[in-house]
Amino acid sequence: MAKKQSQATWGGRFSEKPAALMQRLGESVSFDARLAPYDVQGSKAHAAMLCHVKLITAKERDAIHKGLDQVLATIESGKFKWKGELEDVHMNIEQALTKITPAGAKLHTARSRNDQVATDMRLFFKDAAGQIIHGLETLLGALLDFAEANSETVIPGFTHLQRAQPVLMAHHFLAWVEMFGRDRERFIAFLDRANWCPLGSGAIAGSTLPIDREFTATALGFVDQKGKPRVTANSMDAVADRDLFIEFACACSLIGTHLSRVAEDVILWSSAEFNFVRLPDTFTTGSSLMPQKKNPDSLELIRGKSGRLTGNLMSLLVMVKGLPLTYNRDLQEDKPPVFDSLDQTLLCLDVLGGTLSGAAVNAEACAKAVSDPLLLATDLADYLVEKGVPFRDAHHCVGALVALAEKNHVPIHLLPDEDVDEVCCCLAPDDNWQEVFDIKRALARRENTGMPGPKQVKKQIAAWRKVLS
Ligand code: ARG
Repeated sequence: MAKKQSQATWGGRFSEKPAALMQRLGESVSFDARLAPYDVQGSKAHAAMLCHVKLITAKERDAIHKGLDQVLATIESGKFKWKGELEDVHMNIEQALTKITPAGAKLHTARSRNDQVATDMRLFFKDAAGQIIHGLETLLGALLDFAEANSETVIPGFTHLQRAQPVLMAHHFLAWVEMFGRDRERFIAFLDRANWCPLGSGAIAGSTLPIDREFTATALGFVDQKGKPRVTANSMDAVADRDLFIEFACACSLIGTHLSRVAEDVILWSSAEFNFVRLPDTFTTGSSLMPQKKNPDSLELIRGKSGRLTGNLMSLLVMVKGLPLTYNRDLQEDKPPVFDSLDQTLLCLDVLGGTLSGAAVNAEACAKAVSDPLLLATDLADYLVEKGVPFRDAHHCVGALVALAEKNHVPIHLLPDEDVDEVCCCLAPDDNWQEVFDIKRALARRENTGMPGPKQVKKQIAAWRKVLS
């Protein structure tokens, strides 16, 4: 046995310990300590497997299990002394364990930190995806509640941020529901891809020892629906690739993008110019100078954080892009963006739900905005189409009526017959064309799948309730 070691776990071939600067650069325990529960879980399964294949005794396994439980309890109590010079969570835990039991020195048999950290992160990802799915489902529930509570409210829908056509506000909410619903599906698919056990890949080329990878995979819950173990198929891929990290960050940044668009809509709606909603005091702030201000900070911060989530994705893509196979120490930098994406995504999902749950619709302002008859100009063109006018001619004719109404400062449906006759040859004097300028009629005629008619909207809400039940 080497007498003097510069570093307890890998110091055998070194005669000097790393420079203080090197230690500062190389430590990851300041951020990977949060992997401790997964690291202990992985190590316990690994020890059980080592015993199963007779590389350690049952007594040693039990001592390792007991010691690891003790270490985790100390960590959870906040009393654990993390040491930067031990680099990471893995070596800190292993050394603390070895102080408790000499069997700790056998724990790293047939294992490398490369497959260890890959396993820790897959356990983390399964947990994290579950949390995000839960956060999404809570938000989806809040969006559906809001849609249902305001099921009568009609607002203008916008294209180019210009008034376009009337929609139920609930239909607008359901558009967001579809987006977050797809985010949810993305994480469900991600869960399946995360569910493969890399342990046994070693540093790069597995191990010469008679390990049982399937045993460990089963112990850690990396199994298919029939309970069959799922182990990764290539040891080099298993320690080198970070596509799960990238996929996770990407799915989070998509949620962030969706959150940001919702935030922008609601910020607009809460401005005096729109005035469609009043935001709750609890998710807004005041100005230190202007006493009248009530600012939509929660939504602005969500919009801002979406940039950060996309930044995390970029960090990972750029970091991995030029790396030769297999493990390179660059990869230690893979964790902060992932942890940040999880934390910020969960926070933003909750904040949007909280902000919307406290928001109140200003029915009067919505009704005023939607009373603009020009929102139904397309309905008039459709009316002409039903009378046999080719759509292009109908479009042109209604366009001329719009221009005339604008010029004469008369609402389009109140234009006198003589004026209508002058610009439009498609409308006969006995046509009851003014009937299209009725919001209820307009919505009732939009009851095809995916449209904003009241029956459709009700159906979609019910369908989503069922998905979430
Ligand atoms: N802390 C390291 C990381 O997160 C663990 C793997 C270290 N492997 C190595 N070959 N130095 O990447």
